Amino acid sequence: MPWRRLLRRHHRPRSTGRHGYGTYIQSMTVGTCTAVFWSLTMLGLIGIRTLFLQLGGPSWPVPLGQRDSTTASLNAANSDIPTPDYNLDQLIAAFNKHQLSPRDMTALSGAHTIGYSQCLNFRDHIYNGTNIDPVFATLRKRTCPAQAPNGDTNLAPFDVQTALVFDIAYYSNLVTKRGLLNSDQELFNGGSQDALVSQYATNPALFATDFVAAIIKMSNLSPPPGIPTEIRRNCRVVNS
Ligand code: HEM
Ligand SMILES: *[C@@H]1O[C@H](CO)[C@@H](O)[C@H](O)[C@H]1NC(C)=O
Repeated sequence: MPWRRLLRRHHRPRSTGRHGYGTYIQSMTVGTCTAVFWSLTMLGLIGIRTLFLQLGGPSWPVPLGQRDSTTASLNAANSDIPTPDYNLDQLIAAFNKHQLSPRDMTALSGAHTIGYSQCLNFRDHIYNGTNIDPVFATLRKRTCPAQAPNGDTNLAPFDVQTALVFDIAYYSNLVTKRGLLNSDQELFNGGSQDALVSQYATNPALFATDFVAAIIKMSNLSPPPGIPTEIRRNCRVVNS
């Protein structure tokens, strides 16, 4: 999921420098504040807001005085992270655990209008998936060989139309069965989120409103139980 992913990227920068995208990602993960997954930190918020703005996305006010973890604990956060093989019910349940509604989940997934995924995360979907446009599957297979671990780390854009623009193409891709991850396409697979996906696909203002509402909700979440928290005086350092 996103924040872990962003952090990981900071530690292991990838060669997507052609658009300067890697630079944005790195700038949002400097310091310790981005280490907790479910609680967006101030730095993370500012960073991702800047990123989305640069890429044409909506903006939102950054809340101050957030609760953050006292440790950079990835393990506790990791156990909670949805994986690309999740079906719709599993995705809804995973977000529900954090008081995020199905609507929040569908809106937040729109973050996949920017960025890339490694082949190992979408291989099964493009080779075995049934809810996928065959032309799109063929395109993605070209750089994602069937046999693991061949090409495991090869990248493909989430958004086949506009990889680095924060727009609603993610949703129109889903409507035309061109979701990259299984978990993306699950949002439009004959289930409860189909209607909303169709709305977002044609209504950028609605998507922007819902996305911002959901990301603010997510940013106000407490870190997972068991992780000691504090309200940081300085986002970059644990209080002494
Ligand atoms: C709904 C459940 C979600 C799943 C299963 C999921 C899964 C993934 C996976 C597998 C990747 C690619 C990682 C890689 O191949 O290295 C990814 C990338 C990404 N995710 Fe998610 N994600 C989810 C929700 C979110 C949310 C809620 C956000 C933000 C609000 C988000 C933002 C991103 C971004 C920006 C990237 C691209 C990072 C890059 O290109 O470096 N994702 N996600
Ligand atoms: C397709 O599914 C089969 C059966 O689950 C599995 O053995 C195979 O590895 C999958 N193929 C790919 C490319 O993921």
